[in-house]
Amino acid sequence: MTADTLRQKYLSFFASKGHAVISGASLIPENDPTVLFTTAGMHPLVPYLLGEPHPAGKRLTDVQKCVRTGDIEAVGDAAHLTFFEMLGNWSLGDYFKKEAIAWSYEFLTSPQYLGFDPARLSVSVFQGEGNVPRDEESIAIWKSLGIPAERIHALPKEDNWWGPAGQTGPCGPDTEMFIDTLKPACGPACRPGCHCGKYIEIWNDVFMQYNKTADGRYEPLKQANVDTGMGVERTICMLQGRASVFETELFAPLMARIAELSTTPPADVATVQRAQRIIADHLRTATFILGDQRGGVKPGNLGANYVLRRLIRRAVRYAKLLGIGPGFARALAEIVVANYRHVYPELQEKSETIFNELAIEEERFEKTLVSGQKEFDKISTALKTHGQTQLSGRTAFKLYDTYGFPLEMTEELASEQGLTVDRAGFDEAFKKHQELSKQGDKNFKGGLADHGDATTRLHTATHLLHKALQIVLGPHAQQKGSNITPERLRFDFTHGEKMTPEQLAEVERIVNEQIGRNLTITLETMTIEEARAQGATALFAAKYGEQVKVYTAGDFSKEVCGGPHTKTTGELGKFKIQKEESSSAGVRRIRAVLE
Ligand code: ALA
Repeated sequence: MTADTLRQKYLSFFASKGHAVISGASLIPENDPTVLFTTAGMHPLVPYLLGEPHPAGKRLTDVQKCVRTGDIEAVGDAAHLTFFEMLGNWSLGDYFKKEAIAWSYEFLTSPQYLGFDPARLSVSVFQGEGNVPRDEESIAIWKSLGIPAERIHALPKEDNWWGPAGQTGPCGPDTEMFIDTLKPACGPACRPGCHCGKYIEIWNDVFMQYNKTADGRYEPLKQANVDTGMGVERTICMLQGRASVFETELFAPLMARIAELSTTPPADVATVQRAQRIIADHLRTATFILGDQRGGVKPGNLGANYVLRRLIRRAVRYAKLLGIGPGFARALAEIVVANYRHVYPELQEKSETIFNELAIEEERFEKTLVSGQKEFDKISTALKTHGQTQLSGRTAFKLYDTYGFPLEMTEELASEQGLTVDRAGFDEAFKKHQELSKQGDKNFKGGLADHGDATTRLHTATHLLHKALQIVLGPHAQQKGSNITPERLRFDFTHGEKMTPEQLAEVERIVNEQIGRNLTITLETMTIEEARAQGATALFAAKYGEQVKVYTAGDFSKEVCGGPHTKTTGELGKFKIQKEESSSAGVRRIRAVLE
């Protein structure tokens, strides 16, 4: 079974159980400062898990692109990846444990669907902690389906609790499903959740009953939800009987090319394999980030931009180890795009951006890598001759600032030499540097009541800005990307040249005029076709007939959008453009604040 068949079977199975098939979201969250990337299928659905009605109903299913870099050190084994596709189904206060588990079991074992041998299936459930009891209900359901007690493992919170993607949000106990690879156990304590690779986790059913608040409490949610996630790469790996995800069709062409390009691989086979897998993983992830439909993330030194930079630079470093020559990043991205464009057409649409940015970042890093490595070698030799074991924060910062070495890379290099890095010292040097470069930029507003409110207001301002740009510059001024933090909005749009000061002043004036009119913002639900027919701006692909939310600001703007927004434009305050600059060829970027 291929990934294409798996995606299609999953969606049609859950459609047959009354689920609406919705479009997956962008990898880059638009107005959620709690995460840098979409980390799970539930993430774009957080408002609905908290009780807002979803336009498509109470049962949903989709395929979601996800990026998680928390396990980046584990990449190189058989199953860990920094980008993966997640198949998901949700109950928004509708069905609960019984149906969710029974359907997971049916989809996994039915010959019409995945046809896994039930004897290879084991599961884990939450063992209970504090006021949340052991999940007896899930245990009973699994037993009723024929899973014997010895293959049902009650495990602690680290294993069987799904926490919020960011600091706050919906969460709850879960039950996870594992396929036995049939390899020998690593020891008597080997069980699902063990890291030896005998049991591969492929699916997680979360019972979201709680909301974690900013002060760390768990309060019951208005509704009990189900949130499930099945990893595409791992599942097809198990279905195809492959030894690792890198041998499935999702990676095979990429791995073959990397092997061809490796001109001077070290003798140790395991080192070579790990390096090749890291390169494949990191460049696939970088390709998806650069090729995201929302766009706007480029290699840089902060936040999501830094994650992207770190992935590319780490790939370059491992490429060097294998004797892979310059220009490889772009060459490998071409393979990723060709392999995935039938599923994610945005990769094709953004292919020029992907290739250019990779080539530029690779070259930028190449230039300093050799001298940086020399500097590092000099320092580590000196430290060792003096019997020291720690690299100072200042040195790590110098490697970062002057040679572009991500801190984590310095830590890896150091650990290869038996050294540690003073992380706190690095953070201090970093902060000091930031404060210095921030001087003069005094727009940060302290004392905002709530991050959520601030981002909501900026999000509404973004809609007004989008419309005002079209009025002043023309209908070609279309949104290309948007990023909101509690302090400011950033908006990318198509326009061929620098805006004049008059144009900027006019855009600012129009936005403030609409704020002054105190327009009411209304929310309606309709099909994407109806929304288009009413002249709503619809930026992202939606399926034919898909129910969408449309936000209207008085008679001024109408956009298909997930929200949230303020109730009126009067709540926004004073809109001020701080900067207008080039973002990429034919795309301009505005940074603005509300005062
Ligand atoms: N949100 C759950 C996970 O990512 C399904 O595992």
